[in-house]
Amino acid sequence: MKLELENKIVIVTGGAKGIGEGITRAFAAEGAVPVILGRNSTEAAAIIAEMAVLNQKADAFHAELTDPESIRVAVEAIVSKYGRIDVIVNNAGCNDAVSLRHDPADFVRSLERNLVHSFTLVHHALDALIAARGNVINIGSKTATTGQGGTSGYAAANGALNALTREWAVDLGKFGIRVNCVVPAEVITPQYERWLANAPDPEEARRKLDQSVPFGHRTTTVAEIADTVVFTASARSSHTTGQILHVDGGYVHLDRACTAGTTHLKTTV
Ligand SMILES: NC(=O)c1ccc[n+]([C@@H]2O[C@H](COP(=O)([O-])OP(=O)(O)OC[C@H]3O[C@@H](n4cnc5c(N)ncnc54)[C@H](O)[C@@H]3O)[C@@H](O)[C@H]2O)c1
Repeated sequence: MKLELENKIVIVTGGAKGIGEGITRAFAAEGAVPVILGRNSTEAAAIIAEMAVLNQKADAFHAELTDPESIRVAVEAIVSKYGRIDVIVNNAGCNDAVSLRHDPADFVRSLERNLVHSFTLVHHALDALIAARGNVINIGSKTATTGQGGTSGYAAANGALNALTREWAVDLGKFGIRVNCVVPAEVITPQYERWLANAPDPEEARRKLDQSVPFGHRTTTVAEIADTVVFTASARSSHTTGQILHVDGGYVHLDRACTAGTTHLKTTV
């Protein structure tokens, strides 16, 4: 299947670690030019060097995504360097456990960490996206649908990302721009590893985590998320828009009986 992604300029926020890194690598393998946008410059440089050895392309621009000006400057630099933006993957985010007990100002900061930068990036890149008849993929979270407890900011931000997926799909359809959301549930990434390491019994926590996923009783791999993102962004998905795609081994939608024998596992990812 030809995905027709060669030389497409693809911005991946937080593309140097975890799910974002997987997305960066998967686009590069298809001949696209993933452009990592985020704060991990050293990791990004290492990925770019690795891609070069494989004759693949990748680039990186530094941005602190909670700073709107940093995003504006980066988008300007990317357009100036490449003359186009074909795909935006709004991946960066962090389950920061801002709960109802936190100060309302913390809730707003959580939205800035998990939601506002996706709007800001698409806002600044809009003319380039329209010119390219590009597309947008938001990376959501199961918490938008299931809740988790103790994480009001993150859940609200991801609920809003689902809403923006539909809103932007309607708004931008007239320009030929598709907008979709890929929603993980449980994926082992640096963020998740930090949480597991801090659990009272990390091995038991991992076992329960695997058991909680109906299909295969294992967590979803980074590559499984990345491959769905790449396919959805590609010309082979040309009539898919406004969709919220759960790539989660049935975690959100399948019968609870599939996880019988497990106790509820509350995670902070
Ligand atoms: N891992 C999971 O199980 C899981 C589950 C559901 C949703 N998600 C979502 O998937 C996305 C990726 O998660 P992950 O587990 O790979 O996370 P991660 O922490 O392993 O990687 C996230 C990357 O984004 C960057 N980043 C985050 N906020 C940033 C900011 N304000 N400015 C610049 N860079 C920033 C980080 O530095 C890091 O490089 C997140 O939006 C997360 O909420 C993950």
